[in-house]
Amino acid sequence: MKIDILTLFPNSFSFLQESIMKRAKESGAVEINIHNIRDKATDKHKTADDRPFGGGPGMLMKFEPIYRSLKSIGVYPERDASTKVLFTSPKGSKWTQSMAQEFSQNIDRLVIICGHYEGVDQRVLDELVDAEISIGDYVLSGGELPAQIIVDSIVRLIPGVLGNEESPIKETEFKDGEVIPEAPQYTRPEIFVTDEGKELKVPDILLSGHHAEIEKWRNQHRSSN
Ligand SMILES: C[S@@+](CC[C@H](N)C(=O)[O-])C[C@H]1O[C@@H](n2cnc3c(N)ncnc32)[C@H](O)[C@@H]1O
Repeated sequence: MKIDILTLFPNSFSFLQESIMKRAKESGAVEINIHNIRDKATDKHKTADDRPFGGGPGMLMKFEPIYRSLKSIGVYPERDASTKVLFTSPKGSKWTQSMAQEFSQNIDRLVIICGHYEGVDQRVLDELVDAEISIGDYVLSGGELPAQIIVDSIVRLIPGVLGNEESPIKETEFKDGEVIPEAPQYTRPEIFVTDEGKELKVPDILLSGHHAEIEKWRNQHRSSN
């Protein structure tokens, strides 16, 4: 999968240089390019924002630098069905695990435009973007964190990206708005004694070696949160 992120703050993406994302890039499963929208501003001050017509607080991201950025990476004026251009927005459709799954399976090229300031010229949303995506009901300062969350949730589902020890098979699932949590998990030591003398024990069943009983326990505890 090829991913392009358009941003006014290209230094905000250190998360994508670490751990699973780093390995995914190194293995060739994903290519991620970060583009500075300001580079495509045409005036000498490289202006990417301006005041809203009709008045109002704050600044809006301008149409032209985003338009020129999309043209430069070849996703405007045409793009195929396996390419999606998203704009991060608190008023967008809520990003879900099933959307991440759908994108990991059916999308070859993903472009995410990170918003900033008060928002963006409406013509960007009407002409350039396939969907506005929110990562939750709160307002952040910019789309850089949402973009990384969207990318992470997709890339880890691309076959081969997670090693066996990180397999998503037993993960928390989301079905029809219901959360089916993964079972509680423990690692060594079997008993941890706090400085205050409290004993924190691993459930005996997990130490028993009875695989069928362990599976039964896990299934019972998946739905008991
Ligand atoms: C300060 S916010 C703008 C909020 C805008 N005035 C509004 O009320 O909808 C700046 C940018 O951060 C990003 N952003 C903020 N919260 C977000 C969220 N929950 N999901 C996705 N993007 C978000 C968007 O790109 C947004 O354009």
